[in-house]
Amino acid sequence: MKTDLSKRAMRAERAVVTRHELLYGEYRVLQMHVPAVARAVQPGQFVHLEIPGLDDAILRRPFSVFKADDAMLSVLYKPVGKGTRAMTSIRVDDEISLIGPLGHGFPTSHDVAKPVLVAGGYGMAALYLVACALKSSGTIFMGGRSAGDILCVDEFEAIDWDVRIATEDGSRGTRGFVTVALDEYVAGLPDAREVEYFACGPNAMLKAVCDRALANDQKAWLSVDRHMGCGVGACLVCVQRIRDPESRNGDWHWERVCSEGPVFESREIVWDDDE
Ligand SMILES: Cc1cc2nc3c(=O)[nH]c(=O)nc-3n(C[C@H](O)[C@H](O)[C@H](O)COP(=O)(O)OP(=O)(O)OC[C@H]3O[C@@H](n4cnc5c(N)ncnc54)[C@H](O)[C@@H]3O)c2cc1C
Ligand code: FES
Repeated sequence: MKTDLSKRAMRAERAVVTRHELLYGEYRVLQMHVPAVARAVQPGQFVHLEIPGLDDAILRRPFSVFKADDAMLSVLYKPVGKGTRAMTSIRVDDEISLIGPLGHGFPTSHDVAKPVLVAGGYGMAALYLVACALKSSGTIFMGGRSAGDILCVDEFEAIDWDVRIATEDGSRGTRGFVTVALDEYVAGLPDAREVEYFACGPNAMLKAVCDRALANDQKAWLSVDRHMGCGVGACLVCVQRIRDPESRNGDWHWERVCSEGPVFESREIVWDDDE
């Protein structure tokens, strides 16, 4: 049973910035001292940050937790719009208001015969804690437009994960979408049904993983990306159509990505036509 975050008192914490610098290409690491949140983080959860200096844009922005220990947590982000561009001005020792950890993340305590992570964009950071938490290491497929979009390879290799890279322009790894490399790998396995996917990235990539999981009778856990308002289940900005488990005629209902998600099993998701 998923906890309803809108019924849980979510208190904003003051996080003190301890590191903020470019780490990979345009991606910056923002590390904060915020022990109460950091020690509670589960893989795949996110934090909702109030960005200093955004006077006319009051909404917080969601960021997946990249790393967390007893005191610190960090996120990796890329400036894409107003909020994330304003974040680049944050300095070490600044205080930020942060709510978290939020959402239901990836399940990692069960036995997985062949764990396969599939990541695009910030998904490469979001899946690092999943790789750390799973009982056995496996293979991660990373996809991006070009070599500059590939993140965290050293981190995954340091914990014995097999890293496979695909770039659309061929500047690093296999040329093409990440699914090209993934399909080659799965075709070479004696029993493809042993694969269990954990994926985070653009919704088109998640849909492609979902299609493969359905075709090959595999399980796939997908972290869905939705624009968010409140982040705690109150505003309904982030809803996703979810299949009714007992229904035989395609009935579905809305669930909130911020609180029932962001991670759903692929069979639960009813995709919009444009995804
Ligand atoms: C659960 C979750 C975890 C996330 N984790 C990370 C992370 O670890 N690192 C990271 O860099 N980003 C992450 N994001 C995306 C991040 O929150 C958005 O990039 C950010 O909200 C954009 O804010 P902005 O003010 O810069 O952009 P805006 O000015 O609000 O928008 C700029 C552009 O970004 C697009 N955009 C805004 N929000 C999203 C979104 N959620 N998904 C796709 N496009 C969006 C807009 O359509 C627009 O084109 C996450 C999003 C979610 C839902
Ligand atoms: S962002 Fe408000 S309900 Fe999800």
